[in-house]
Amino acid sequence: MTDQTAAQAVWTAIAKANQPKLTDLFAADAERVHKLSLSLNLPGGEVLFDWSKTHLDTGLLDQFAALAKAMDFHGKRNALFDGELINNTEGRPADHAAQRGVGTAESTELASVFHARMRALIDAMDEGVFGDIHHILHIGIGGSALGPDMVMNALGRDEIRYDVAVVSNIDGAALDDVFQSFDPAHTMIAVASKTFTTIETMTNARSALAWLADNGVEDPHGRVIALTAAPDKAVAWGVDETRILPFSESVGGRYSLWSSIGFPFAAALGWEAFEDFLRGAAAMDRHFIEADLTRNAPVLAAFADLLYAQQRGCQTRAVFAYDERLSLVPSYLQQLEMESNGKSVLADGSPLGRASAPVTWGGVGTDAQHAVFQLLHQGTHLIPVEFLASRTPGHDLDPDHHRILLTNCFAQGAALMQGRDNEDGARRYAGDRPSATILIDDVNPATLGALIAFYEQRTFANAMLLGINPFDQFGVEL
Ligand code: F6P
Repeated sequence: MTDQTAAQAVWTAIAKANQPKLTDLFAADAERVHKLSLSLNLPGGEVLFDWSKTHLDTGLLDQFAALAKAMDFHGKRNALFDGELINNTEGRPADHAAQRGVGTAESTELASVFHARMRALIDAMDEGVFGDIHHILHIGIGGSALGPDMVMNALGRDEIRYDVAVVSNIDGAALDDVFQSFDPAHTMIAVASKTFTTIETMTNARSALAWLADNGVEDPHGRVIALTAAPDKAVAWGVDETRILPFSESVGGRYSLWSSIGFPFAAALGWEAFEDFLRGAAAMDRHFIEADLTRNAPVLAAFADLLYAQQRGCQTRAVFAYDERLSLVPSYLQQLEMESNGKSVLADGSPLGRASAPVTWGGVGTDAQHAVFQLLHQGTHLIPVEFLASRTPGHDLDPDHHRILLTNCFAQGAALMQGRDNEDGARRYAGDRPSATILIDDVNPATLGALIAFYEQRTFANAMLLGINPFDQFGVEL
């Protein structure tokens, strides 16, 4: 049971807590980096989470641990993985972890059945059942598009088995761009829609069918695969039921990359890559379940998120991928974090009474240094910054490229923290501006899966500590 009185007492204590400068926190504790960093050896390599340049300290960690106790965090985490109706307003469990094998026997078994169907359909496509296919035109929006787009951008830069284009906007220009480069005679269309009713997706799908027909494809509907939790609607729309890849209603749209929505990824990069992706995520889930709260990457990150939103009044948080392969992660996180936790009521519908999710924004480094870092260093907003980087470059060019990229990434975190004094105000940097760094060995299916699962569980941890339901999205239905 949650204890709102105890929770309120903790929030009051956190609000009143001292706010030492980052440089003072480091000076006071030689062990600070170790206490606030975590190195996880995951299936695809090491992932280092360095939260030492945030204002968390042992006192605050104790406070947040007390908040977790008051909010029955352990009970809520068990409820998630036990398939309980944690999405209480829609009366559903949240089964995304079960798609990677972490959940109840029933939900993980159902997920493996759906995955086997997806694998069989990909095998059929590989064997030429649908003709000589070279391109996959993936049509979806929100969680039915952002995930496939982000993964293909991260992992689909070397040899891939099919070209993949992801189209989401109803602006015909998006679809028309693909028509200029894809050959209809060799194109498969994946209509990705959990509800199979979303007007942007259904309009784009209708135009894609017409494009096939207008270009001589005899059985356009035969080239359509439906990725959906509403198979009956896909059949009614005209998709052959052997080409429908279902997934469970209890998988949220913004949490669905592990399900049939991952089809273009599995088809283009191979089934082994998709399984590595799931494996990496499962390893992060197990870490999230097993690690003590203050040695738990998603929980530590959530503690810092809440510190800045609640104690410092930060209304945004910025994520910068210092790696072109991760350039779509910030926009992916926007839906995951803001559609999950952009709420103003508790799970029971009563007023939340405090700040909820900050605005997630960001971009790519080092480009962002030539656009928004002015504000981050000298603006009037305090904006927690997050850096994503890989030890290993995603190219074979001169090593100077990666050395300069990483040097800038680490230097930015140091500069934000240390600042620089100057008699001339225009050249003075206040410093004491927080940042966190996630450094992965390399961008591969397993580390990417672990990274995305880290963000999912972090989003969940934020929600449970606030007492909100991260799994509904009535705001978009208006
Ligand atoms: O934004 C609302 C939303 O329902 C998202 O949650 C979802 O990912 C997106 O629209 C697309 O919905 P569907 O997959 O049902 O087409």
